[in-house]
Amino acid sequence: MSDRVLVTAALPYANGPLHLGHLAGAYLPSDLYVRYMRLAGKEILFICGSDEHGVPITIAADKEGVTPQDIVDRYHKINKQAFEDFGISFDYYGRTSSETHKDISQKFFKKLHDDGVFVKKTEKQYFDTEAQMFLADRYIKGTCPKCGYEEAYGDQCEKCGTALSPSELGNPKSMLSGATPELRETEHWYIPLGNYQEWLGEWIDGHGDWKANVVGQCKSWLEGGLSERAVTRDLKWGVPVPLEGADGKVLYVWFDAPIGYISATVEWAAQTGSPEEWKLFWQQEDTELIHFIGKDNIVFHCIMFPAMLKAHGDYVLPKNVPANEFLNLEGKKLSTSRGWAVWLHEYLEEFEPDLLRYALTTILPENKDSDFSWKDFQGRVNNDLADVFGNFVFRTFSFIDRFFEGKLPELKNASKEDLALLAEIEKHGKLISEAYEKFRFKDAAHHTINLARLGNKYFTDMEPWHSRKTDIGKCGNTLHVSAQIVAALSVYFEPIVPDACSKLKTALNLSVNGLILWNEVSSEMLKAGQPLTAGEIPFKKIEDSQIQKQIDRLEARAAEHAGPAEPDLEPEKDAIEFDDFVKLDLRVARILEAEKVKKSKKLLKIKVDVGYEERIILSGISQFHEPEDIIGKNVVVVANLKPRKMMGMESKGMILMAEDPADGLLFVSSDARPGSVVN
Ligand code: 2FM
Ligand code: ZN
Repeated sequence: MSDRVLVTAALPYANGPLHLGHLAGAYLPSDLYVRYMRLAGKEILFICGSDEHGVPITIAADKEGVTPQDIVDRYHKINKQAFEDFGISFDYYGRTSSETHKDISQKFFKKLHDDGVFVKKTEKQYFDTEAQMFLADRYIKGTCPKCGYEEAYGDQCEKCGTALSPSELGNPKSMLSGATPELRETEHWYIPLGNYQEWLGEWIDGHGDWKANVVGQCKSWLEGGLSERAVTRDLKWGVPVPLEGADGKVLYVWFDAPIGYISATVEWAAQTGSPEEWKLFWQQEDTELIHFIGKDNIVFHCIMFPAMLKAHGDYVLPKNVPANEFLNLEGKKLSTSRGWAVWLHEYLEEFEPDLLRYALTTILPENKDSDFSWKDFQGRVNNDLADVFGNFVFRTFSFIDRFFEGKLPELKNASKEDLALLAEIEKHGKLISEAYEKFRFKDAAHHTINLARLGNKYFTDMEPWHSRKTDIGKCGNTLHVSAQIVAALSVYFEPIVPDACSKLKTALNLSVNGLILWNEVSSEMLKAGQPLTAGEIPFKKIEDSQIQKQIDRLEARAAEHAGPAEPDLEPEKDAIEFDDFVKLDLRVARILEAEKVKKSKKLLKIKVDVGYEERIILSGISQFHEPEDIIGKNVVVVANLKPRKMMGMESKGMILMAEDPADGLLFVSSDARPGSVVN
């Protein structure tokens, strides 16, 4: 591993405030990694900034009747502050409306243009005659050709992640007027990604250590074949295309935004007084460039930007792109338009940042989507941070304070329990660092709290409240060992709960010489006799009423935003042959008897008459229907499904149920007599 690491976190659009999903996607993971790497002694630079171009910005401005500049000025400030408040420790937070960025992205484009990388084409594109403009990217919505989602944007389907062009959408609609747009000719520059297909395939294959979710997405694009992507747009807001005769055209936001990582590094270097230093990070072969992103950004960071960097030739390529999946909220997809989100500034009105950092780290959507719930948050804070870590720290300090005049007792004639626990410091140090290096932050949190758990258990088992009366030497040993564990935790826990650890280090008189490195952590960090200043109790428990307040706020806002019912419908499945369909023997059946299956929350045992026989079908509908309510109903069943055993009983066939997004499982009923064939 190189000693020089450049970490970037996706530049968030400056078109609205940040929420929990942002934090869990790219920003908390990147900060955990960077904080660990700094402790590991690496030369690391952490870059982010506001993505201030593109249609998301102009749409926000149109909605409010203000200029795009007003929007980005407002949200750049708010978001920068929110990151600071959460301890996201960027070395530099830039913005893509800066002059440096304009200059660098124009030069980047110009080099590719002059090197003959682009193809210039005149093509028909959608034009809104009412608004008198071409409908780029998010100005147009329609049906995704891949998954059938009807709200896909002109540049990307947010449901399946596919990168799109407006011309690929079915049933296109203008986001400005709602009208069906007409096609008009316009001229643009395209990057022929197909030319990089082979190289990209080999390059991605060469990264066997990438996360499976990232490699999986890349492979699927490569298998589908890469096509040309337009890198310019007909828009008023953006970086102007630096060519003669390109008036009214700007760079595509996904062309200029990733170059923002470079321009922010250049600005950082200028600010530190060593203007050439950015080159160390972008032009020295041995730099490790790591992009932290959410899964909707994978195609741009693993296909498009690497192709651009390769074509340019002067810059390093990413070493890894540890993308996260999505975070859901209380079992539902996060949605800012439906008010289903927890905004970071709102969270901070009630709780400390460390609490969310810990709770989110334990549930990060590293390999699959995960869910945040306020109750779970409360549980993790109360059970782990307060009852385990906080309690252990508090007991250790208060015993030393009360019975050893606030000075660390010496370790003398250590018992096997004392030595066994001290040995855990090194063991856990290795486990935790391995987890960070492999981007397994959930595991890192697990091992870290585990060390606190071992410490807390040891304290209980050793019963210093007894030994202080019967064997003060043993009591002193217990407190010495406990304090050494607390000291180790003040470093090991730092990436996750930095504020608490900084207070802890002060209490332990450890921070006098600045940063303590990971490999300086040992079982002898504290010296016998050194004063320890007991501070406040770390991590107070969260009351039920505080949690209820958050749940009520979330639900109230969702109710405010509730428009006409907009069910989240399943996309249509792939087409099947008629021959496949006729294999199904669908029949009308009458429900004769129904009862709950013992020890099963879901299953009902249902006797049905299918016309030519009576049979038992087990159906997982118990949460939606009471047995007595369904007797006598005529339903549709798959009569020729092979019998299956469930809970020790045979089920012959299946009752068809419609999955209503709002009301759960409803019957498909028919007035026809039992046994009638359904075609
Ligand atoms: O999805 C987004 O929020 C984009 N603004 C991310 C851009 S990342 C990078 F390329 F700048
Ligand atoms: Zn889709």
